[in-house]
Amino acid sequence: MKTVHNFNAGPCVLPKEAINAAIEALKDFSGTGMSVIEVSHRSKEWQAVMDETEALWKEILNIPDGYKVLFLGGGASTEFLMVPMNFMEKKAAYLKTGVWAKKAFKEAEGLAKVFGAEAVCVASSEDKTFNYIPKGWTVPADADYFHITTNNTIYGTEIREDFDCNVPLIADMSSDIMSRPVDVSKYTMIYGGAQKNVGPAGVTFAIVKESALGKVSHYIPTMLNYQTHVDGSSMFNTPPVFPIMVMNYTLKWLKKLGGLKVMEQMNIEKSNMLYDEIDRNCMFVGTVANKEDRSRMNHCWVMADKYKDKEADFLEFAKSKGMVGIKGHRSVGGFRASLYNACPKESVEALIACMQEFEKNNK
Ligand SMILES: Cc1ncc(COP(=O)(O)O)c(C=O)c1O
Repeated sequence: MKTVHNFNAGPCVLPKEAINAAIEALKDFSGTGMSVIEVSHRSKEWQAVMDETEALWKEILNIPDGYKVLFLGGGASTEFLMVPMNFMEKKAAYLKTGVWAKKAFKEAEGLAKVFGAEAVCVASSEDKTFNYIPKGWTVPADADYFHITTNNTIYGTEIREDFDCNVPLIADMSSDIMSRPVDVSKYTMIYGGAQKNVGPAGVTFAIVKESALGKVSHYIPTMLNYQTHVDGSSMFNTPPVFPIMVMNYTLKWLKKLGGLKVMEQMNIEKSNMLYDEIDRNCMFVGTVANKEDRSRMNHCWVMADKYKDKEADFLEFAKSKGMVGIKGHRSVGGFRASLYNACPKESVEALIACMQEFEKNNK
């Protein structure tokens, strides 16, 4: 297998250890003589995986009592509509910091019409192609919840503060979950697609404060009702078995490395290395307006004005050096390198060396 440096935004690089363990489970799961994709999800061997995976989440993220960790299908995009379904009675408030935040808001707006409620946007950074995190906003005190997207995968901005909120706080943490310790008690719910830091695509996680459920008066379709999945311990219907298996191994890898404090330090180091090079290299310019808003997961930059015509050349050069997935999202252009938990420091060093060599050859 050829060696590449994988900077994909998601699905993305996963720990080799987790992939190898998953390959073994595909061949023979837990000594059952069957593949993990052949066993019954009602078997005691599978139940043990479900219990262990939830326990790993609770231990690693230090989740307080009263929260349930759910493993669902449908991706974070389905959560965009499940959130207003389950929590919107009269008013929902949203912070619009990117395309995903916008999509979440759209679902709230649509369902507000159905429920006779209101969805309000408290602040947006759309005026500047989402290149900053809006500051100084106030959340209406009568909102049922306030929705934020902690990491904006496409634009490379991030909110890392677990702030106190005057209303229940709900966060899409699809692309920065498990990259740092989080004070879960500040949130009523945290959700996301697994396919960045916690596993492959196909499973969605939702950390739900159980006491916050059951407060809306409208009917919630069974599969869209978080209570259904809390009561069924994520097995009301057949769960996405294989993605959960890989998630289990990914979390074990993370725990063995030392947990979230260690992971955060590793992420800070990798991220600073790359931003330092983006700032130093005369051929490139970072796209995020304020340094304090820069994401540690997704690093976005473009060619400096003087070298605008070299974008395709750099992409080609980087490709020849084994870099994968550094083309910026189609809505922003330029470059994006996603340095998720499993991205090794060696890959960041290789990318930096590639940027330096390109500068030397072209400036
Ligand atoms: C922050 C964020 N939210 C939501 C999504 C959508 O996730 P899914 O594809 O699981 O629906 C993504 C996908 O990249 C994302 O980055």
